[in-house]
Amino acid sequence: MDRIKIRGGKVLEGKIYVSGAKNAALPLICASLLTDETITLTNMPALSDIRAMNALLEQLGTQIDEFDDFVDNHAAKTYSYRTKEATSLVAPYDYVRKMRASYYVLGPLLARYGKCELSLPGGCAIGARPMDIHLAALEQMGAKIEIKNGYILANVDGRLKGSHIIFPGVSVGATCNILMAAVLAEGETVLENAAKEPEIGDLANLLNAMGAKIEGIGTAVLRIEGVEKLHGAKHKVIADRIEAGSYAVAAAITRGKIELVNAQAKTLRRPLQVLKDMGVNVEETETSLIIDAKGCELVGKDIMTEPFPGFPTDLQAQFLALMLTAKGAAMVTETIFENRFMHVPELLRMGANINVHGHASAIVRGVKNLSGAQVMATDLRASFALVLAGLVAEGETVVNRVYHLDRGYERLEEKLRSVGADIERVKDNEEE
Ligand code: UD1
Repeated sequence: MDRIKIRGGKVLEGKIYVSGAKNAALPLICASLLTDETITLTNMPALSDIRAMNALLEQLGTQIDEFDDFVDNHAAKTYSYRTKEATSLVAPYDYVRKMRASYYVLGPLLARYGKCELSLPGGCAIGARPMDIHLAALEQMGAKIEIKNGYILANVDGRLKGSHIIFPGVSVGATCNILMAAVLAEGETVLENAAKEPEIGDLANLLNAMGAKIEGIGTAVLRIEGVEKLHGAKHKVIADRIEAGSYAVAAAITRGKIELVNAQAKTLRRPLQVLKDMGVNVEETETSLIIDAKGCELVGKDIMTEPFPGFPTDLQAQFLALMLTAKGAAMVTETIFENRFMHVPELLRMGANINVHGHASAIVRGVKNLSGAQVMATDLRASFALVLAGLVAEGETVVNRVYHLDRGYERLEEKLRSVGADIERVKDNEEE
């Protein structure tokens, strides 16, 4: 397995181009299942999660074409998707096991074909992550759901029926799935307590461009007037706020200065406020964000994860890493997932001072120095937190299980090297 080797201590300086958002792209790809015409997605990131989703759609009968493109001054992918007629309505275990977001095929297939069989995703490294909210909403829309042999068997006679759904908890996945189901349902659907993450707005905008009638985009109440048929469309994926936030931390932790080109400040208000409160200078331009921590003495600040527009759970591990060498103590509270401090034991091996309390909170006390070590993480964002710690640690840090990073960070080493990091990928069959 590949590893990432980092020699810490470099002050990062320069420009990083932010890629298209993985978590927007995954439901957008599945929205293409709602029509027999072509959906073209531009500004797509080259990531293993995207390839995994593409493989699943090909298995369902979608024809996919891939092009190398250049969007907003950086290399990106353009993909076109056409599902003239699905040849399978089954999302098998092997696909869902590799990528939970495979569950995004459920809403579209049920809406267009009245049937879908989806391997029920199990738990994952950060928690149990059930699908009860998705399934209860689909049942309310008239679907019959059965769990058998590890699969969700969903079907509906005729079309799904519009319904007034009040989600019992805020779920990004359930909001996207039910939104995709509702656009082809009969009559009006109202989704209350919907998640407001920017990726959902991106999905709703594509669906409207396909002929859907969605109102309330960006709010907790979405109103959808179902239509009989959707058509083709072309759509540019929004910038990845989590990638942007991760590199913002890379600038801050190395006391450097990075311009994040294409980053959208409005999608990052809470994390940017935390950076400012810690003593980092943040400048917004029309097309970028400038994160400047040169000569700054950073002070630890408490963070608590919440649904958007609160502090994103997907930036918790990276900001926890940032607190490691800041002055004073910071309390990090995780409210979205029950098991999201798996990076802590690895950071302790690098000399961090962290106390985890139960599953929900951790106290970080700033230390003067971290030291390089062999580390590995169990999920994508936690892996990036280890890279961040490696960037400031004395000596060499080797991050194992790089496949986690490849799921969500496009050309990671290249981007970090371009701002001065001493980082390289060691291939499985090379040296040592
Ligand atoms: C998405 C993101 C993930 C992010 C998360 C929260 C994608 C591909 N993934 O995941 O990166 O960390 O949002 O912002 O976009 N829950 C239930 N029942 C359900 C659904 C969810 O109990 O039916 C719980 C989950 O276990 C979790 C919480 O609700 O504790 C939030 O989960 P959710 O917003 O659904 O996360 P995902 O969509 O899976």
